[in-house]
This record gives sequence, C-alpha cells and structure tokens, in this order.
Amino acid sequence: MTDTTTLSARLRAVSFGGHRQPDDDQTDGRYGERYLHGGLTGAQVAAQAALHFFVYEAIEAKLAEHLERDPDFAFAFPELIRLPAIERDLEHWLGADWRSQIEPTPTTKRYVERIQEVGDQPHLFVAHHYTRYLADLSGGQMIAAMHREAYGLSDRKGAEFYDFPEIESIPEFKNEYRAALDAAGFSDEQIRELEDEVRLAYDFNNQAGQELNSVL
Ligand code: HEM
Repeated sequence: MTDTTTLSARLRAVSFGGHRQPDDDQTDGRYGERYLHGGLTGAQVAAQAALHFFVYEAIEAKLAEHLERDPDFAFAFPELIRLPAIERDLEHWLGADWRSQIEPTPTTKRYVERIQEVGDQPHLFVAHHYTRYLADLSGGQMIAAMHREAYGLSDRKGAEFYDFPEIESIPEFKNEYRAALDAAGFSDEQIRELEDEVRLAYDFNNQAGQELNSVL
C-alpha cells in the first residue's frame, strides 16, 4: 500500500531516531562538552571545522554537478552553501596555511566516500543534504549560541559556519525546505532508500562526532 505520509514528516520521524542520547556510551560528551562549555585549544576547536570542511566539500561539489545537469534542481538553495564560511573558520583557528594542517578522520573519509559514491542519484543526494543542513538550522543554532559564549566569539569570527546571513527566518526557511522535499516526486522505493540513507548519514555523523575525542 502506498504510504501517504509526506516525505518531510517521514524524515522527521527518522531524525528523532537518529539523535543519539548523550549517555549512549562512556566516551561520549568529552569533546562535545568542551566544544559547548570551553576548554579546547584553537587547534582542537578546528577539528570540528575540519570535519565539516571535508563533508561539505563533498556535498557542495555534488550539488554543483546536479546543477550542471539540471539548472532547476530543486535543492540548490544557495543561501545554505557552507564551504566559504568553514574555510574562514579554519583560517581563524589555524592560520593561513590551514589546509596543510587538516586531514579527514577514518569515519569522515568513509562518509565522504559514501557521498561521492551515491550522490549522483538525486534521492540519495537529498538524504545527505537534508541530514546536514537541517541539522545546522536546528540543533546547530543552539550549539552555536553556547559555543560562541564559551569561546567569546562575539564578533562571530571563528564560528561563521553556523551563520546563515541570507536566511531571514530559519523556521520559515525550514518550511520551504520541507515543501521542496514533499514536492520532489520520489517513488516509494526511492523514499525507502532515502530514509535508509538518512539513517546512515546519522551513523556517520555520530561516529565522526565520537572520533573528535581523539584530539583531546
Ligand atoms: C547536541 C547535538 C544536537 C542537538 C542539541 C540537536 C537538536 C535538534 C532539535 C531541537 C531539532 C528540532 C528542531 C525543530 O523543531 O525544527 C533538531 C532537528 C534536526 N537535527 Fe538535531 N541536534 C543535535 C545533533 C544532530 C546531529 C549530529 C544531526 C545529524 C547530522 C542532527 C540532525 C538533525 C536534523 C536533520 C533535524 C531536522 C529534523 C526535521 O525536522 O526534519 N542533529 N535537532
């Protein structure tokens, strides 16, 4: 039987399952706690930005390919593009030669390879796009407020990643994004694959988050 629930509602349900509980395991929270409350060196803060750099480089390169093939690709959303802000954050924490100082962790590498491997298929690309950008527009905004306060980033330098200056209202934008999901016209099978891919993207993000503890 065809499932009549909207794609955005289905993904939201998958997302509720994907949010890991903070007490899931003993190693959790150390880097994350210090990221939110202070106590990391600049180089350690940069590890989070480096993770973002590799993932967004992959997502935004695939997006450019989609747009080349189809200029009307519904998930263009130029106001979401993150790479230039991440590069400025990395320069802030590591200096002008930041690029030579970062490399992907094992999970980040597998995450990037997965995006490259499946990202030509619009529905699987959307899974990765949704999981990252909606996270940034949701929990990411709370993380940003705490991180900025803890590290005294009052002029916003060093945490530009979390800023979406071209988005006037995040709640309205999220509704627009959800409308694009619901109008995408994916088949039932594609939607099931998309949901699985979102689960996989959560696993990558949760594991990569834990790997950040290795810089402590
Ligand atoms: C400390 C970490 C996190 C916090 C506090 C947090 C918090 C939240 C909250 C409160 C929402 C609901 C916002 C709303 O009502 O629209 C949300 C949504 C979301 N989060 Fe997180 N989150 C965290 C980590 C993550 C991670 C690691 C991911 C995966 C990369 C993620 C992906 C998402 C997505 C995709 C949504 C949108 C769900 C939807 O409306 O479709 N979050 N998050």
